[in-house]
Amino acid sequence: MATRAVLAYSGGLDTSVAVRWMIEEMGTEVIAVAVDVGQGGDFETIRERALAAGAVEAVVVDARREFAEDYVAPALRANARYEGKYPLVSSLSRPVIVKHLVAAAREHRADAVAHGCTGKGNDQVRFEVSTAALAPDLDILAPVRGWGLTREESIEYAERHAIPVTVTKASPYSIDQNLWGRTIECGVLEDPWESPPEEVYETTTPTATGPCDLVIDFEQGVPVALDGRSLPLHELVDEVTRVVGSYGWGRIDMVENRRVGIKSREIYECPGSLALLMAHSDLEDLTMERDLAHEKARLEPRYAELVYDGLWFSPLKSALDAFVEESQRHVTGQVRLRCEMPGRCIVAGRRSPVGLYDYDLATYEAADSFRHQDAEGFVRLWGLGIRTWAARQGRKDEGGMPR
Ligand code: ARG
Repeated sequence: MATRAVLAYSGGLDTSVAVRWMIEEMGTEVIAVAVDVGQGGDFETIRERALAAGAVEAVVVDARREFAEDYVAPALRANARYEGKYPLVSSLSRPVIVKHLVAAAREHRADAVAHGCTGKGNDQVRFEVSTAALAPDLDILAPVRGWGLTREESIEYAERHAIPVTVTKASPYSIDQNLWGRTIECGVLEDPWESPPEEVYETTTPTATGPCDLVIDFEQGVPVALDGRSLPLHELVDEVTRVVGSYGWGRIDMVENRRVGIKSREIYECPGSLALLMAHSDLEDLTMERDLAHEKARLEPRYAELVYDGLWFSPLKSALDAFVEESQRHVTGQVRLRCEMPGRCIVAGRRSPVGLYDYDLATYEAADSFRHQDAEGFVRLWGLGIRTWAARQGRKDEGGMPR
């Protein structure tokens, strides 16, 4: 049995109870690690809470920049959306959290990593498989999965052990949030027929009035400036989230396939990520050669699946990263997003110094430089095989002329 574990600590009820539970019921010393991936909240309070719950050490890591640059940016360049919709919010944060858990485990000579996930979700898969990939020697503890406490029992346990928790008017929802978006599950949302109540939304509450344009500069597939202002990626994503969200745009309501075999109804608020994904893929349309674009589009769903399934640290994912990296060499330029009430955000324009759009080739005006006479021979050869087939084997009932 593990003697000292590093716990992924959020400051919430479950992980606070887990600290004491691991000490009392599992005989394990706990080092709490809270990783800031842009979820908001007061990390000094979170640290104090972990210590009050009984942790021997509580560590706060500001991983916002790292999360943006090393996890969000590659996913954005890969246009990664699970099942074509969900921009992988929680799936993306787990590997960076695990990286810091493992580092803390090494520093504090812990022999296990612990998380507060239940047995029905994807996050346990991501925590455990990522840990296995980075530190196969470490044990994994999942107290919440094993203890079988109801929410009421957890609250009672916290009270009995004087664990400070702020159980705010018992929200029925399970929420996870970071720089890339916000996820909401449970409560009334468990009926896929029920409309999500407005109260579940936080970052997409419409408050804007007039329309606005946002110009995003990309360099090799990564957003680097907003309206001409250079910004570190985590700040840029925050800003786009704030602006686009204020138009009430960026909501997803979907039934998704969890890795553990359950279909679940999920609500996502992702104004920043969805707007940047839309802008990025639009710039690819302008700058990426056709075969490369088509092949990349085939690989993107696979990339998203790997990340969703907890395989961020895996050989296939690394190989796909190398492909995506190479594909982004010329994805440089600007995209103009237009936001309008109510609930509208569209790409209104794009330009690039290395774009493949050639006005002289595309235009129907006088500047036209396309060699029209070349088309005749091209189309004749393109259709030659079909012409031969139709003449020899074409079906009469389809108007063919068999010999
Ligand atoms: N369904 C999403 C996913 O699997 C969201 C999970 C949110 N996690 C949570 N503990 N509430 O990525």
